[in-house]
Amino acid sequence: MGFKSHVGLLASLITTLLVVSYVVWIAIRSDVSLQRDHVIVDSSIITLPLPRKLSNMSVEEAILLRRSIREYTSDPVKLEHLAMILWAAYGVTDPVWGFRASPSAGATYPLEVYVVIGEWGVLVEKEGYLTPGVYKYDVHRHLLLLVKSGDVRGELADAALGQEWVRNTPVSLVVCAVFERTTQRYGERGRVRYVPMEAGHLGQNVYLMSTALGYGSVVIGAFIDDRVQSIIGVRQDEIPLYIIPIGVPREQRRIDFTDIWRYIEVKRSG
Ligand SMILES: Cc1cc2nc3c(=O)[nH]c(=O)nc-3n(C[C@H](O)[C@H](O)[C@H](O)COP(=O)(O)O)c2cc1C
Repeated sequence: MGFKSHVGLLASLITTLLVVSYVVWIAIRSDVSLQRDHVIVDSSIITLPLPRKLSNMSVEEAILLRRSIREYTSDPVKLEHLAMILWAAYGVTDPVWGFRASPSAGATYPLEVYVVIGEWGVLVEKEGYLTPGVYKYDVHRHLLLLVKSGDVRGELADAALGQEWVRNTPVSLVVCAVFERTTQRYGERGRVRYVPMEAGHLGQNVYLMSTALGYGSVVIGAFIDDRVQSIIGVRQDEIPLYIIPIGVPREQRRIDFTDIWRYIEVKRSG
């Protein structure tokens, strides 16, 4: 074998080595990122990203696009989006008095918001997914506090008379009311009017913020109260009023203001 063929052999060996190392490097890299994607962020206190303007959708567009959505993809909800939805629901909008995003009779704020997170339900950018479980939204510190671990979506769907959208959604809010906070001041009127009205305000904020961020939701009133209470692990005086699943809609809704104009014109001419 001559000198030239030795050099040729060496060159092809080096090339093969380089190609193999490159392929191995790519494989290791993708494996690492896959693992990182599936890391569980295991903490009993989740610091939520601070509220900020995230969407470019106007209030008009969000109201037009909002619909009760019951079919979701398996995509997770991003933590920064969940944080915004929670803030829009009941977060603080007045640092002096502690007033909230939803109005409340006499600022008595009877509502508590719990978050049921399923497996691979909430994605923390570059870190992984939150531990499935039930969390409480700490309004003033803008935190999630772990109440109990484990994916309870199935049990919650059963308690909601088998409504499948509760089972299939990555995240559900459970809105509970401590009626005494309002009835102490307003009596029976607080129980039958003010507190349910306030849950409605909160629900609409969740709908609109979810829509603006590309998610769908539906407010659910049909469930067995005491079963929901024991599934999410709340006190007896915290009465569940709404379950609100949130997820990426399976179908994007298409509607324009011109569709509404046509509808109104037809009604006017009829
Ligand atoms: C108080 C209340 C309770 C509701 N309960 C349920 C429910 O248990 N399950 C459900 O799928 N939708 C429920 N909905 C959603 C309604 O079905 C929905 O708002 C209605 O069909 C109108 O559709 P839209 O929200 O897309 O405008 C409820 C809505 C309200 C306001």
